[in-house]
Amino acid sequence: MNRSKSVHRRTVLQAVAGTGVLLTLSPGLLLTGCDGGVKAVESETLGLDSDEYDVELNLHAMSDSVPILPGAPSEVWRYRAELLKGPKNTVSENPDSYLGPTIRLRHGQTVKIHIHNELPEDTTVHWHGLHVPSDVDGQPRLPIRPGETMTVGFEVLDRAGLFWYHSHAHGKQGGRVGFQSYAGLAGLLIVEDEEEADLKLPSGDNELLLVLQDRTFAGNNELVYMGRGMGSMMDRMHGFLGDRVLANGAPPTTRKVATRPYRIRVLNGSNARIYKLAWSDGRPVTVIGADGGLLQEPEDRPYAVLAPAQRLDIWVDLSESQPGDTLELISDRFQAGMMGGMGMMGSNALPLGSRFPLARLEVSKSVEASEPLPAQLGVQRQKIPVNSNTRIRSFELSPVMMRGFAMNGRRFDGTNVADDEKVRLGDTEIWEFHNNTPMPHPMHIHGLQFNVVGRRGGSSDSLQQGLVDSGWHDTVLVMPRETVQLAMKFERFDGLYIYHCHNMEHEDAGMMRYFQVRG
Ligand code: C2O
Ligand code: CU
Repeated sequence: MNRSKSVHRRTVLQAVAGTGVLLTLSPGLLLTGCDGGVKAVESETLGLDSDEYDVELNLHAMSDSVPILPGAPSEVWRYRAELLKGPKNTVSENPDSYLGPTIRLRHGQTVKIHIHNELPEDTTVHWHGLHVPSDVDGQPRLPIRPGETMTVGFEVLDRAGLFWYHSHAHGKQGGRVGFQSYAGLAGLLIVEDEEEADLKLPSGDNELLLVLQDRTFAGNNELVYMGRGMGSMMDRMHGFLGDRVLANGAPPTTRKVATRPYRIRVLNGSNARIYKLAWSDGRPVTVIGADGGLLQEPEDRPYAVLAPAQRLDIWVDLSESQPGDTLELISDRFQAGMMGGMGMMGSNALPLGSRFPLARLEVSKSVEASEPLPAQLGVQRQKIPVNSNTRIRSFELSPVMMRGFAMNGRRFDGTNVADDEKVRLGDTEIWEFHNNTPMPHPMHIHGLQFNVVGRRGGSSDSLQQGLVDSGWHDTVLVMPRETVQLAMKFERFDGLYIYHCHNMEHEDAGMMRYFQVRG
């Protein structure tokens, strides 16, 4: 086997008549299948460097072939992990899916992860939502080259919540986040803590994890990313929308449930699609948590909006149901600015704002379970206090002719940081995003969780009642023409972090910047 050739061969983006672009992902296989393959260059540990860690694992970014649809398996890129040290339930593989293993950590643990890049191109791993040192954050400034290993160490400082990890590569030719995440490089990361455990929320089989992603497949089940010509231009402008939705890396399925409460924790791992979560029988959606963990108290909404990268924690009580009853979690119809899909070129089979099922619950047995939902949930972490003296830092989101979107007129420029992108360690600020574009943008800030202070100016539309702004977040959906204010505190870590739009095609096209926390 010719190893060096496989390492250097580039991933081929193949144009296919009539459809879009196929992901041709196989070269990396040669690397992993090769004994004596490229070995880890074991260097220093970035971030927390200690003699003892509570958890240690290997995380491989590699190519693989997995069945997704009936028929031929699909070529994917995905994560695989081996637990070297720590509680057994730290890593649960998703063997039948391209999704990375679910990593379960506890608040206060120290963690060491060896990330092995077995792909034919640079990658990084970003721990989305976690408060970790800058060097551990998976930023594009620290790429892991093909065949190399990077070791990161950190302490789990966040409160309990559903986080996730995904690639964050951005090279000279532009961003690879959209491509790599689409190819399969994403997984869930759960943080647990005492406060949450004391609430005795549904767990084990009664806690359902749901990763929503949309994908397009060609005739032989190859993943297709981005259209061609005009279609590609539209994909870049609106973000890529697949023509079918996958739940946990597979077509949505029926789940047998009992007459009792369930906790459903949902990640939107899609490149650009926004979901409007609702129940098929019209019952309210009871939201108990968001990106950064549990809300102070449950909130009933007619529906709940989940933008790319966001998470929602939902509680549903089926104790009044009868065996044989079914209930569907759906994404309901909506209009969101110009992205409504009406008359959109590229004619996606599943336009943004279509109605489709996400999961079907089928009640198959009666049980006696009285587990009332606590009236008070996550009350220990106080909101960030702000007042009229709190410094406001404004960012205007604006279109750039044919080149995507800018923030305060700027686009991604490596690690260059402008004067108004420097903040002081320990400060509390209000960041204000003003969306001067006709599209919604899910804005994400690395390294911290913020509170939403308020919104103004957005046109009232069919998503408004489902925007969950209470609690803690790392990603906020800024609607067209709207201004959203966020309260944030820069704690503990100085150095470079990133803020960007989490519509991955916007991000890859440069709607991303570094900011600097100065000690
Ligand atoms: Cu989930 Cu900068 O990303
Ligand atoms: Cu955007």
